[in-house]
Amino acid sequence: MRVCIVGSGGREHAIAAAVARSADVVLAPGNPGMDGFERTDVSPELVEADLWVIGPEVPLVDGLADRVRARGGLVFGPGADGARLEGSKAWMKDLLFAARVPTAASRTFSEERPALDYLSSLPGPWVVKTDGLAAGKGVLVTSSRRQAEADIRAKLSGQAFGDAGRRVVVEEALDGPELSVIAICDGKRAYPLAAAQDFKRVGDGGTGANTGGMGAYSPVPFADDEVVGQVMERAVLPTLHALRKRGTDYRGALYAGLMLTEDGPKVLEFNARFGDPEAQVLFTRWEGDVAGALAAAAEGALSDVDEPRFSAHAAVCVVLAAPGYPEAPRTGAVIEGIEAARAVPGASLYAAGVSRDAGGRLVTAGGRVLNAVGTGADLAQARQLAYRVAGMVSWPDMVVRSDIAMQTGGVA
Ligand code: AMP
Ligand code: GLY
Repeated sequence: MRVCIVGSGGREHAIAAAVARSADVVLAPGNPGMDGFERTDVSPELVEADLWVIGPEVPLVDGLADRVRARGGLVFGPGADGARLEGSKAWMKDLLFAARVPTAASRTFSEERPALDYLSSLPGPWVVKTDGLAAGKGVLVTSSRRQAEADIRAKLSGQAFGDAGRRVVVEEALDGPELSVIAICDGKRAYPLAAAQDFKRVGDGGTGANTGGMGAYSPVPFADDEVVGQVMERAVLPTLHALRKRGTDYRGALYAGLMLTEDGPKVLEFNARFGDPEAQVLFTRWEGDVAGALAAAAEGALSDVDEPRFSAHAAVCVVLAAPGYPEAPRTGAVIEGIEAARAVPGASLYAAGVSRDAGGRLVTAGGRVLNAVGTGADLAQARQLAYRVAGMVSWPDMVVRSDIAMQTGGVA
């Protein structure tokens, strides 16, 4: 089987490494730090492959899966209809309310006055989200009502996030540890992957701006099989069935971003893909025939394969980011130490925002540049190895959180 993995980040690198155990891989387009993998600049729908696995949200929302399916291709990834779960938070919230999935109270607005009125009816802290895609950066959580009001104005006017913010979701803030549960779906059935936790803020202790994710780990000590089972029963399966009732045959990853509140798990968001950097730890721990499982989901035949199994080993991923990330990453710096870091046993160094300069050297080319993943008998060992590998790589003013997987109770 030849698998075309669409995307160019650390998530796709990690997927490629796991899929390559039982299939041939071509990355479209991948990046020059993905040593040993075939890459192509051919448009993904024109690549010769038996299965397409679409990594990022933008091509999913744009309907790439539909276009490949229209040519007869087998695709892991929802069509544009299913990807609306991620492409429009307002649409997602409507679906959650209709399917009675536990989630934060919220309403959607395109006018300032009613949005401000609703805000003042909530006790606070407050959450203001862009309706459309904003690379994980369109969410403000604040205990300052003034800041929430200013954010509503900035988003609705189009100033802050262009058209993505012309509708906003205003919601109550929930409290509790955060958790990511990702399921692979075949339209009717879903199998959960192991739980993971992501660290969203740029700074230690969960401070600073929201990012795409600065690190992740799995397993999650406070999310045992019972918690994952609850998430499947109360959130993932009702959502999959609600989609099906609306005529959407959802085949791909369904990612539930959750908060474990005193009233049980509540959904903060759904994504239509694997998380980044959650995938970097999940695909590291996923045992057996990963390519076969993704193909079975794409075929609508998950019942033909066993539920995914995960190694007893822990995995921790530390993101190495460019200075200025997430607001304005400064790129073009030469990256030192990759080869030695890649030689460390039990670890991986996945490439995300990198390119080559005229002299062929790897240079930084995006916000999140590299991902150091360590494995070990427990989280402490995995963490130590991830940081050892991260410490072997350098460029000027590299940004790394120092507390990934240190507090495994939930400060993300
Ligand atoms: P989202 O893109 O919707 O997952 O939001 C990004 C991050 O904002 C989440 O990972 C949470 O840390 C935070 N967040 C989103 N919604 C809420 C909420 N209702 N209450 C508290 N924090 C939230
Ligand atoms: N790590 C969060 C996400 O992929 O959306």
